[in-house]
Amino acid sequence: MTVIRPALHHVTFKTSRLQEMIDWYGTVVGAKVQFQDANAAWMTNDAANHRVAFLSVPKLEDDPEKVTHNGMHHSAFEYDSFDDLIASYERLRDAGIRPAFCLDHGLTISIYYRDPEGNFVELQSDNFGDWEKSAEWMRTSPDFKANPIGTFFDPDKVAAAFASGRPFKELQKAIRGGDYLPAEIPSIGLPV
Ligand SMILES: [Fe+2]
Repeated sequence: MTVIRPALHHVTFKTSRLQEMIDWYGTVVGAKVQFQDANAAWMTNDAANHRVAFLSVPKLEDDPEKVTHNGMHHSAFEYDSFDDLIASYERLRDAGIRPAFCLDHGLTISIYYRDPEGNFVELQSDNFGDWEKSAEWMRTSPDFKANPIGTFFDPDKVAAAFASGRPFKELQKAIRGGDYLPAEIPSIGLPV
């Protein structure tokens, strides 16, 4: 039987911080509330009826052992270009929202933030500007096989280099090669 393949549509979080989550996803990815009541909200940042949603009922608790417990590691949003990613990085930096860690995965440049519940949200742009090419690279590249998690980078150094005119293709190779490493290697929210 042929599998009729549905598209990934939305992510729904449990939260004790409903308004903080609404505000954060509004600021970070430009999501707007479609419907909200005392215990839930549904938001979207595109033409879909919703892309992120929150269920906020009594008795929900934080998980102090999140790092060592199974579950979702992150959700991700993609920009059309590196220009848009880095402009958004700068906008968020100026709003006081700092990333948790930044990685060049080879296929994408990715900047990860922590939402108010401690869920990671990846903001990314495709290094090839073309899903077919980045998918092919992921499947076949020895570079990806050797380093699938990626190379850390300092976003301020990268933003400065890009602003000074370093072309993206050249910059990306340098990031992947480790020329923009942060002063300290950050945690990516996994047990060490
Ligand atoms: Fe990811």
